[in-house]
Amino acid sequence: MNQPQLISLSYISKATQDMGVLALMRLTDQASQLNQKLAITGVLFYENQHFGQTIEGPKKAVMLLWEKIQKDPRHQNVRMLEVGDIEARRFPAWSMRFFLAKEIVKKMPQLTGVLDGLPEHDDELLKLMRSANS
Ligand SMILES: Cc1cc2nc3c(=O)[nH]c(=O)nc-3n(C[C@H](O)[C@H](O)[C@H](O)COP(=O)(O)O)c2cc1C
Repeated sequence: MNQPQLISLSYISKATQDMGVLALMRLTDQASQLNQKLAITGVLFYENQHFGQTIEGPKKAVMLLWEKIQKDPRHQNVRMLEVGDIEARRFPAWSMRFFLAKEIVKKMPQLTGVLDGLPEHDDELLKLMRSANS
C-alpha cells in the first residue's frame, strides 16, 4: 500500500504574552499528546517571546494542524518559513520536543538571537531548528 506523502512545515510567531515555564510545558504536553494520535513529529523552540516550530507528518494532518495553529490565541504574527515534501522525517522520535533556543545556541554560538521574528534571520533560524537532532 502507498504511504501518505510526508511534509514538513516550519514557522515563526510571537507569543501573545511572555510564557512562563508552566505555560510552555502545558502547551508542549498538549501538543505532543495530540501529535501522537496524528503521527505528527517535530520541534518547538521558544526565546524572547517568540516561537519557532517544525511540524512533520502526513500532508493532510500537518495542513489541518497548521490551520488550527494559526488561529491559536496564544500567539500572533504567525509566519510560515518553509513547507515542502520530505522523503523521511527529521525528528522521527519526537512527538513534539521543546527547546529553549539558548540550549542549542550553546553548541552553535553563531546562531545567538535568531529567534526574534526578523525575516533576515529566517535562514539561520531554520538552521538552528534543524540542528536540534544532531
Ligand atoms: C506555538 C504553538 C504550537 C502548537 N503546536 C501544536 C502541535 O504541535 N500539535 C497540536 O496538536 N497542537 C499544537 N498547538 C495547539 C493548537 O493550536 C490547538 O490548540 C490544539 O491543536 C487543539 O485544538 P482543538 O482544540 O481544536 O483540537 C500549538 C499552539 C501554539 C500556540
